[in-house]
Amino acid sequence: MRVFVTGATGFIGGHLCRRLVGDGHEVTALVRSPHKADALRELGVQLLPGDLGLFADPEVLLPEHDAVVHLAGVVAAQDPEQYEAINYTAVVDLMACLHRQAWVPKRLVFASSLAAAGPSVPGRPWTEDDDLAPIDPYGEAKARAESALRDARFPVTCMRPPIVLGPGDPAFLTLFKAARRGVGVRVAGAPQYLSWVYVDDLVSAMLAMLADERPGHRAYYAASSQQVDSDQLWDALRSALDRRIAVISVPGRVLSLAASVATRVAPVLGLHNQLDHKQVAQMRAPGWQCDNRALRDELGWQDTWEFGEAVAATARGYEALGQL
Ligand SMILES: NC(=O)c1ccc[n+]([C@@H]2O[C@H](COP(=O)([O-])OP(=O)(O)OC[C@H]3O[C@@H](n4cnc5c(N)ncnc54)[C@H](OP(=O)(O)O)[C@@H]3O)[C@@H](O)[C@H]2O)c1
Repeated sequence: MRVFVTGATGFIGGHLCRRLVGDGHEVTALVRSPHKADALRELGVQLLPGDLGLFADPEVLLPEHDAVVHLAGVVAAQDPEQYEAINYTAVVDLMACLHRQAWVPKRLVFASSLAAAGPSVPGRPWTEDDDLAPIDPYGEAKARAESALRDARFPVTCMRPPIVLGPGDPAFLTLFKAARRGVGVRVAGAPQYLSWVYVDDLVSAMLAMLADERPGHRAYYAASSQQVDSDQLWDALRSALDRRIAVISVPGRVLSLAASVATRVAPVLGLHNQLDHKQVAQMRAPGWQCDNRALRDELGWQDTWEFGEAVAATARGYEALGQL
């Protein structure tokens, strides 16, 4: 299969491209930073230079591919407007660009997120039959992109991962660094109920989605069968890093206040804000859980990773990359 991948220089994209090439597929990656593309080049991935703005150009001709995987996106924006521009508008532009090509992809796999669904009620993981109710600009942009893709004149699969663990995950590095220093923060009260997925299993899910030859649009939650809570996460970190971690319980409203201060002060001091309202809204939610049954039943996918092993492998990955 010839697969066109965006976001290939990112965490999930790197793992996906390695698997696709290893399985004998031809891969082309849209790459905006040539220096980040060395690993892809060494793998034998074809590079198409450019950023997502390319798709808004009515003249652009994309090389013919059998399928497209759109992973490029912003997970932690310094400016909330980036969520709209990159996670929504660029998706609409990609769809329009694909409509203008002389070829039609057999399927587009789009990386949405569990954030598009919003927080879940503990013990009641979201299924694909539930409506989307995002609570932050990131989730709202993903939900709107999913909705826009319903107009695609080719089959689309919206993949909704929860937390993705694995070597190189940028989203969890701050948490692992805090754990390594022996301190953590949790929202006071009941633990938060969480779904998660290991990146290798997520890549397997994407391959199953790409192999899906049925017509029509689909959406799947791509999560491990093992549900956990935030206290189990800290226990897994203690075990993976082999150290004591003091986890401080902070009232949610104090975290919201801290986010307000950090969001105002960080740009003035020229610092990267480490605590914004999106993160606090996500931390304060009672649960982020989803059900993988549809993915298992309809595409024959099976998750293979156990939570403690996934956290340990993620820690080893950061260490190997010199990040932890
Ligand atoms: N990681 C998770 O826990 C998680 C969970 C749910 C959903 N997702 C979704 O999965 C997708 C991939 O996530 P990830 O964790 O792999 O993110 P990541 O490591 O931050 O990678 C993001 C990728 O998007 C590219 N990108 C961003 N803006 C771009 C632009 N304007 N033009 C071209 N490329 C651009 C980046 O290119 P550069 O390398 O040049 O910056 C990078 O390749 C995202 O859409 C994210 O929303 C992730």
